[in-house]
Amino acid sequence: MPAVRPVTTGAVISGWGTALPEKVITNDELAATMDTSDEWIRTRTGISERRIGGSTVGLSVESGRRAIEMSGLEPSRIDSLIVATTTPDKQWGTSAAIQHELGLRCGAVDLNAACSGFVYALVQAHGLVAMGADRVLVIGTDTLSRITDWTDRTTAPLFADGSGAVVIEAVDGPGQMLGWDLDADGSALGILQAEVGGYIEMEGKEVFRRAVRIMVDSAEKSMAHAGVTGDDIKLVVPHQANIRIIQAACERLGVPLERAAVVIQHTGNTSSASIPLALGDALDHGRIENGDLVLLVGFGGGMTAASCVLRWGGGIE
Ligand code: ACO
Repeated sequence: MPAVRPVTTGAVISGWGTALPEKVITNDELAATMDTSDEWIRTRTGISERRIGGSTVGLSVESGRRAIEMSGLEPSRIDSLIVATTTPDKQWGTSAAIQHELGLRCGAVDLNAACSGFVYALVQAHGLVAMGADRVLVIGTDTLSRITDWTDRTTAPLFADGSGAVVIEAVDGPGQMLGWDLDADGSALGILQAEVGGYIEMEGKEVFRRAVRIMVDSAEKSMAHAGVTGDDIKLVVPHQANIRIIQAACERLGVPLERAAVVIQHTGNTSSASIPLALGDALDHGRIENGDLVLLVGFGGGMTAASCVLRWGGGIE
């Protein structure tokens, strides 16, 4: 991790939005097409149903528009757009298409760090604010159903589509981000990958084992950076890959599962979208108040990991 330097211009989240495709596929519907069962999927993963459909641009425009509306900003006032996705609609330009459809007049970039992408993007958006941007739109969207082999029972029950977005706005002083960590270990690329034009391939057990370790490791670095411990965290917002991974990570971090945001039962694993979907759900249900410490932590293909500690509302104690 880089040396900790004081941040003179930080940011706070001023709006958020989520979007899910309309089409729901339940475990029973999957079990009608492959050798699996609702019981197996629920007990092994925590997933009951998932949403499938739409494009990365379409879902992003929906969640992004909601976030901008909540922030009360004119779209033209957004200074930069970062779209985290591992399933761009085209080889390039997914974020540019979103920029155009939302009526933004700013730079736009696609960022691919698999399921860690949203937190990578959020940290980098704070970097833009530190360098002078006033308002940044950060979107995490994936349409994993397009790179899932729907005849493979070891992956098909896990992956799905969705989107979540936040607007961050500059404030005087350090703002909300108290600590962060961005990590990668390319030696583990082979255990979770997709060839260009191919499907997700995964060594499930090995991914599970490493996922818990790298999530905990990254979260601990962020908390140390922020000078806080698991006891101080009001809500953990983890990547939604498997409820048992979330349980194991929370246990090791000393945070009870009741203090985790969990939407996996309805969304499945939506990669870059999973953390903003869980964060949006927690906010919509009033689970976060000004002054609360919120830990976002993701892991994904690469393998990558990313985490950050936010004090909701910024400097308020
Ligand atoms: N239905 C029924 N049986 C199944 C299914 C299924 N859908 N899938 C596998 N099985 C069988 C296996 O064939 C195996 O049978 P066997 O014992 O006769 O060989 C048995 O169930 C147990 O399989 P395991 O792989 O040992 O099951 P496990 O408890 O490890 O659960 C799972 C598998 C859910 C994939 C788990 O390992 C996991 O969640 N891993 C992490 C996955 C993950 O996080 N991926 C995404 C990361 S980031 C990204 O998305 C880009």
